[in-house]
Amino acid sequence: MSKHKEFITKLSTIGDELVIEWDDGKKSRIFSHWLRDHCQMPTSVNANNGQRLFSVVDIPEETYIDQVYKDEKCNVCVVFQPENHLSVFSQEWLRKNCYDQNLQFDDRSEKQKHLWQKYSFEDGLPFVNYEDICKDDNIKLDALRMVRDVGFFILENVPIIEGQVLNVISELGYTRETNYGTLFEVRTEINPNNLAYTNMGLGSHTDNPYRDPVPTVQLLHCLESSTEGGDSVLVDGFKAATVLRQESEEDFDTLTRSWVNYRFTDPSTDLRSRVPMIELNDNNEIVKVRYNNRSIDTIHLPDNKVRSFYKAYRHWSEIIERDSLKIIFKLSEGDLMLIDNTRIMHARTAFSKEGKRHLQGAYTDLDGLYSLLNVLEARQQNG
Ligand SMILES: [Fe+2]
Repeated sequence: MSKHKEFITKLSTIGDELVIEWDDGKKSRIFSHWLRDHCQMPTSVNANNGQRLFSVVDIPEETYIDQVYKDEKCNVCVVFQPENHLSVFSQEWLRKNCYDQNLQFDDRSEKQKHLWQKYSFEDGLPFVNYEDICKDDNIKLDALRMVRDVGFFILENVPIIEGQVLNVISELGYTRETNYGTLFEVRTEINPNNLAYTNMGLGSHTDNPYRDPVPTVQLLHCLESSTEGGDSVLVDGFKAATVLRQESEEDFDTLTRSWVNYRFTDPSTDLRSRVPMIELNDNNEIVKVRYNNRSIDTIHLPDNKVRSFYKAYRHWSEIIERDSLKIIFKLSEGDLMLIDNTRIMHARTAFSKEGKRHLQGAYTDLDGLYSLLNVLEARQQNG
């Protein structure tokens, strides 16, 4: 008896497919070109970095599976013609990667998230202690999972030092510099170039939809807070979009199909983009939302779409401002809020002119955070 565990019970070919029968009764059918393209031999992929060493056009169009058999280690050996190319796949690799047993995983999709609303955090908001994430990779991993799952966390006890927000980013990823600099100040200004720098309340929004690509993570560090008001408001934009879809599929479809222009200008800047307010992936799942009434540009839509767009836009705007979707809290001095800017909308209530309110903000990106999450997760699994 083989000392290697076998969990493939039968191998065969039918037409242009390899058919694998698994010991749990499942059956996989794998297209010959997919299998040749995913060859794991050292001539096909670099052994150190796993990168492919050939292009799909290097595979003959007439490729077919000539032979398939198991070797003494129970690996699956496939001979492709006309190249006379042998590929050896481990059973584990085939089970983990074969496309018909593994649904497309998209860590940006609504399906992978814990959608939330007003009463979802009755056990407390996701607070994390700053020093703990710097010292303990398991706590850092938990914080990154919060970004993936609920779209935000609040760091406590961040040193009240100007520029500290950049040190926080360096723990998690890389700073995204913009025309506002590596960081920006949020405090009342005379003749501000942005309404954020006044004491007005701001409606729920995502930041910078006029950029291409949009910064995907925003951090706001509270350095001073002695005003009345100025509370922070967060809304789960994916939840808001699912409410819209439940209430009117037609309005939801309209916003996924209508691309609108956003713009930001000041004397030295003119940023423009054209994007949908709700973006879907290839499985029709929500992956990004953008909403910012201050920076929406002239709306250019065909005459036969403009009425349905305004109906949908009004409906969604009304959902976003529902109290039932909002969480409201006050950032204290030393708190830092980190939010997924592709999902979470933020707002702030108006504040008094007395007292001081000073925050510093900066941007980073989800790809860097998710990369660290994947690395830390793999490290934790490997003990
Ligand atoms: Fe903002």
